[in-house]
Amino acid sequence: MFYTIVGTQWGDEGKGKIVDWLASKADTVVRFQGGNNAGHTLQIENKIFKLNLLPSGIITGKKCIIGNGVVLDPWALNNEINKLSLQGISINQFNLMIAENICLILPIHKIIDELNEKLRGAEKIGTTKKGIGPAYEDKVGRRSIRFCDLEDDHLLKKKIKNLITYYALRLRNSNIKINTSELFKDLKKIYELLKQYAKPTWKIINELGTKNETILFEGAQGAMLDLDFGTYPYVTSSNTSSGQIFTGSGFSKRDNHEILGVTKAYTTRVGSGPFPTELKGKIGNYLIERGKEYGTVTKRKRRCGWFDANLVKQSITISGINNIILTKLDILDDLKEIKICTGYNIEGTNYDYLPFSESMQNKIVPIYKNFIGWETSTFGITKWSDLPKNAQIYITSIEKIIEADISVISTGPERTQTIDKKKLL
Ligand code: GDP
Ligand code: IMO
Ligand code: MG
Repeated sequence: MFYTIVGTQWGDEGKGKIVDWLASKADTVVRFQGGNNAGHTLQIENKIFKLNLLPSGIITGKKCIIGNGVVLDPWALNNEINKLSLQGISINQFNLMIAENICLILPIHKIIDELNEKLRGAEKIGTTKKGIGPAYEDKVGRRSIRFCDLEDDHLLKKKIKNLITYYALRLRNSNIKINTSELFKDLKKIYELLKQYAKPTWKIINELGTKNETILFEGAQGAMLDLDFGTYPYVTSSNTSSGQIFTGSGFSKRDNHEILGVTKAYTTRVGSGPFPTELKGKIGNYLIERGKEYGTVTKRKRRCGWFDANLVKQSITISGINNIILTKLDILDDLKEIKICTGYNIEGTNYDYLPFSESMQNKIVPIYKNFIGWETSTFGITKWSDLPKNAQIYITSIEKIIEADISVISTGPERTQTIDKKKLL
């Protein structure tokens, strides 16, 4: 059996918690896109684990794979491994494998990320400044240094020289320079620490698949940050939709695959870009504080708004999602009235999807359906029948509007605070 978990909004839907919850069923957990721009928080018996690059299955001791679709900051990975080992999680070549052909994030990519944002001025994306975009640009431009390139000194020197020529032109009006011998030395040093993890992971994943092992593909970010289908240019630089698992890992089996979409019971977004249901006043602030909506990676306040069924429906279609997992229901507990956006009106015309045009996106007037709040705690509830009637009505109404089943409802950050309505576990 194969599972894919993807975010259906703008990221931070609670994918980490759900991957950890489902990991008991899996033998292997695979990351297939993004990089350390991701921030997945897991809370297990009051212990908090924050993961950026490592698949969330690492906490339960599962085999974990960082696939070729990810961009790898080797220094960030080494720090994450050290941080987790201080929390008692041991990482070795048996529970971590990294695709040999993965492209690296280098220090220059972080510098360029900052510079690009500065140049965009008021139009800045609000990136995590982890060098994600520039690293993917080098991948597409066929200039990247890959993990396997670190083995061969001659090739590595040639590749560094190549990059230096490219960036010298790009940065000719600045005083930023790449120091060749320093970069070479630093890369060799970090490679010594990490080379034990380098494997032809595409081959391993397919072999595990044929042996009937359960593989869980862990998405990062969310559908609306997808490079093709998101709110471009206010997106990340990878495809976050489920189609990416195949190219981002080399896995080829298409059958026995459950695609699970993680969806917050409201909507959040970090960084710039359109957000039709954004709430800037009292309710927005309530959601930020009650939901602890501060970014894991950058600590920025997340923008908050009502549940946008129009967007989620689109994500379900694009990713072929079979089941929705609804998280953070408990955050809505104190609200008197709750709204769901069922469609958009743009200059008098109704839309049941998000048009790509930026100018149209900026003119969206959301169409809302109102619901009466339940005004009682749902925190930690584990049975559907224990949910207040109005919470049940809210959930079943979402199901109707998005035309998909909500199989799991999360009522708290702990693994155990979960309603397994359709008995997924
Ligand atoms: P991810 O990036 O999709 O993995 O999500 P993040 O980890 O960035 O953000 C989700 C946050 O909400 C984390 O701090 C989780 O511990 C927390 N969380 C997840 N599910 C629930 C829930 O159902 N209720 C509450 N109160 N917190 C949750
Ligand atoms: P997880 O996996 C939320 C956002 C950034 C910015 C845009 C581009 O935790 O859900 P980038 O650094 O990727 O070039 O930034 O994407 N972003 C995320 N927002 N959750 C994430 O990951 C994100 N990763 C990137 O805030 O708007
Ligand atoms: Mg996150």
